[in-house]
Amino acid sequence: MEDNYLLSTSILSADFTQLGDQIKQAEDAGTDWFHIDIMDGHFVPNLSMGPFIVEACSRVTNLPLDVHLMIENPDQYLKTFANAGANNITVHIETSPDMGSTLQSIRDLGCKTGITLNPATEVGRIEPFLPDIDLVLVMSINPGFAGQTFMPEVLPKIGKIRKILDEKNPTGLIEVDGGINPQTIRQVYDQGARVLAAASAIFNHPGGIQEGILSLKQELP
Ligand code: DX5
Ligand code: ZN
Repeated sequence: MEDNYLLSTSILSADFTQLGDQIKQAEDAGTDWFHIDIMDGHFVPNLSMGPFIVEACSRVTNLPLDVHLMIENPDQYLKTFANAGANNITVHIETSPDMGSTLQSIRDLGCKTGITLNPATEVGRIEPFLPDIDLVLVMSINPGFAGQTFMPEVLPKIGKIRKILDEKNPTGLIEVDGGINPQTIRQVYDQGARVLAAASAIFNHPGGIQEGILSLKQELP
């Protein structure tokens, strides 16, 4: 039977001297998407990658590129990321004063729309956009770094968003990002998350990337 979830491998913890090879390994191990974390040093206290890396990934895999923008003024860069090969573009509610128009721009660029919220942000802030959204990314850490500890207090939020989506947009997906590992992955799945993003649990697994992916998959039905 086909899995009813998608694993989104976050390359933030990859060895960038071997990126192409590591992407292939994750693909062979059955990842469904690649999650690419874009950080600007303003919205989050860290710098990471830009469109060049998205473009490089698009040359080594045909799997969807799930681009998570942790940047101020995301509108300014949507086209750049779409042109670089992003399939999903996810923006933070905390950074977008006019989320309706931001999401429309993403759609017009031919990408799937994603909206995300920090652990402290209330569901009410994103609720107006849920009827038309493709993907809701629930942060289960404060964004900025891989390898942080999962915050269990976000679990009820996942269930709450799932309930709203079931009523207004049943095909809308929930992705959870931050601290996903073999101990936490089932908890978020049980609340209704069907896209699971993970970086350190995959790339820092002592047995390697393939074992990292298998260790997550074996916790899911
Ligand atoms: C953090 C990023 C996450 C990060 C997850 O700001 O948005 O996607 O890569 O890393 P882990 O899975 O190690 O918590
Ligand atoms: Zn992310």
